[in-house]
Amino acid sequence: MMARLSIVGAALILSVASAAAQATTSRAARFVDSLLARMTLEEKLGQLTQLPGRWGDTGPVVPEGGEGEIRRGQVGSFLGVFGAGYTRRMQEVALQSRHKIPLLFAHDVIHGFRTIFPVSIAEAASWDPQAVEHAARIAAIEATAAGLHWTFAPMVDIARDARWGRIVEGAGEDPYLGSIMAAARVRGFQGTDLSAPNTMLATAKHFVGYGAAEGGRDYNIADIPEVTLRDIYLPPFHAAIDAGAGSVMASFNEVAGEPVHASERLIDGLLRAEWGWNGVLVSDYTGVLELIPHGVAADSASAGALALRAGVDVDMVSRIYLNKLAPLVRSGRVAMRDVNAAVRRVLRAKYDLGLFADPFRYSDTTRERQTLLAAEHRAAARALARKAIVLLRNEGRALPLSKSLGTIAVIGSLATDARSSIGNWSAAGRAEEGVTVLEGIRRAVPSARVVHARGADSATADTSGFAEAVRVARDADVVVLVVGEHQEQSAEANNRAFLGLPGAQEGLVRAVRGAGKPVVVVLMGGRPLAISSFADSVPAIMHAWYLGTEMGNAVADVLFGDANPSGKLPVTIPRTVGQVPLYYNHRNTGRPPVANQKYTSKYIDVPWTPLYPFGHGLSYTTFAYRNLRLSAAAMRPSDTLIVSVDVTNTGDRVGDEIVQLYIRDEVGTLTRPVKELRGFRRITLQPGETQSVSFALGSKDLAFHDAALDLVVEPGFFRVYVGSSSERVEEARFELVDPRRCGKRVLRREVPRFTWPAKSRMGAVICR
Ligand code: NOJ
Repeated sequence: MMARLSIVGAALILSVASAAAQATTSRAARFVDSLLARMTLEEKLGQLTQLPGRWGDTGPVVPEGGEGEIRRGQVGSFLGVFGAGYTRRMQEVALQSRHKIPLLFAHDVIHGFRTIFPVSIAEAASWDPQAVEHAARIAAIEATAAGLHWTFAPMVDIARDARWGRIVEGAGEDPYLGSIMAAARVRGFQGTDLSAPNTMLATAKHFVGYGAAEGGRDYNIADIPEVTLRDIYLPPFHAAIDAGAGSVMASFNEVAGEPVHASERLIDGLLRAEWGWNGVLVSDYTGVLELIPHGVAADSASAGALALRAGVDVDMVSRIYLNKLAPLVRSGRVAMRDVNAAVRRVLRAKYDLGLFADPFRYSDTTRERQTLLAAEHRAAARALARKAIVLLRNEGRALPLSKSLGTIAVIGSLATDARSSIGNWSAAGRAEEGVTVLEGIRRAVPSARVVHARGADSATADTSGFAEAVRVARDADVVVLVVGEHQEQSAEANNRAFLGLPGAQEGLVRAVRGAGKPVVVVLMGGRPLAISSFADSVPAIMHAWYLGTEMGNAVADVLFGDANPSGKLPVTIPRTVGQVPLYYNHRNTGRPPVANQKYTSKYIDVPWTPLYPFGHGLSYTTFAYRNLRLSAAAMRPSDTLIVSVDVTNTGDRVGDEIVQLYIRDEVGTLTRPVKELRGFRRITLQPGETQSVSFALGSKDLAFHDAALDLVVEPGFFRVYVGSSSERVEEARFELVDPRRCGKRVLRREVPRFTWPAKSRMGAVICR
């Protein structure tokens, strides 16, 4: 009876809640419509215009003539300026405009605002979505206190090419991990109520295929087969939208000959019509103007017309909507309907953020003072930074280091590079508030003699510091060698054609190794680095990325064993740049590589395998996987299969393990990847403890897009792999059976605007 009552009660609460949500929606729609009806065409185009702010010597300043433009209603939003006091003043100016429409303040709040968290690829290496969500929550708490309403994050681009500089900004190469991280970040930024003063609009970017830049060269074209677009590049966007992302940014690139900023097919078609998303689509920087060099628009007016028609609502920086579209609307070349739809979406975002109710709710100087860099924010940044470190190699248990060592040599210019520690896109982060690796080590072992030598830097061929580095190494008990890329070598437009250590650092590693002391390499950087030249000859290597404000403390925590490393690679690390693109979820080919068989798919001068595979990461303890079992040997499309495994901590320390589950569809109507991540779990095990870990597999985990672009599952055998990386796995097998004897089961029609005839392939009928 109780249970029944509570179900009825829950249903009642749900229906009251959904009625309330509907009422809010229609109230918002009525508000927006009535405002729109009173606006001139110029005022409407103003709402679609985003201008860059400027920074003066003491803070943000309005661009020349800016206040007048705001008063005339010619600006809808600003990019890149913040500060509670400044944004409050600007809102006061906006309230002097005819309709008193508040401004939106937007910025790239990517991995923290003032307290800086690990760069996004490092956050993904934690495989800890709760911690990543919490990091985004803290970023939003700080950013909104400084007057910001809108972040251009998360970046959810899948990147399979380590040459591409922006690989640092995403979650790596895998669509499953990428989708989980995308959703976590959206939830963190937006919270559960966008109108709360500490939540902000999130932007899934860059839509779409930006990470597939040919040759790894930023902004280059992306040539992506439609099925790959749907199986690999689109899922993180879908996940972000499912999590409620209120905004999406178009990408600079073209896909299949169509620049995304002009792609009605991708924006209004796929995103809006197919997926039913109705948020704000913002251009990337001068993306609208760039339709001219792309070669699809002859002049800026045509560029504006194409972008608006495609569904780009906000013109960032180009000023083309504001300056060129009015005559085109009046002459009918641009539809007023399209202008209205875009303005509605922008006004709706302002309404949902609560700005019409109180334009100053985000500009609170007291909150700004109390919130930024709060102690608990730093603590969260340190906790996540520890989890993001990936221990790549640890021969002879070289790590952790003893705290009673006499002399420690810390070598490398990155060890003292505070700016690089916080990484690129670090919003209001301040290098001087961060902890460098050298400082972190000094704090962790106050009794040790810690000596630093610059050795080499990552940007020049200067070897003049080698001799001192070798001398310091000879005098030490152990060497911590901090090498990699400085933060400007790994970010937008920082693409590389070589993936070794830049500058004279490879020589430095050789020279320091020659000193004969144990060497621990701490790698800093935002991309997989091809470090084959020394990977087998130093005992320990940890990938420490750019870990943010608490970088040095977190590195020291792991070096000296106060934290046990648990991060896993969200990207494959190649042996050499010539292997790129190299990713774990590749297809098999008709001649998969076999050693000693020449005419198989490999190289004659380097192994085909990676240096470190996707999902790899060591711990100071060891884990054993036993007893992989499936709840059934066969499943139907409507069933759920439970996959379980026992994981034991076989070492002598407490540790976290990321248990990973992959599948392989053995035979498909299209070729299937050799492995696909479909689940993971972070567990903590005491020494000797065993935990049984279970995963549920359903049809959606087995599905892919077929040649007709339908999302389908096909009957047949699947392999399941569970283990501690994409390569160290236990294996089982099950069959997906099809009692209706159909060739495949369609889960979702992806292209509802087209109708595909029911086909038969190899004589099989498709179940609809
Ligand atoms: C260009 C970058 O591609 C994009 O990611 C960023 O959000 C905008 N600039 C605004 O800074």
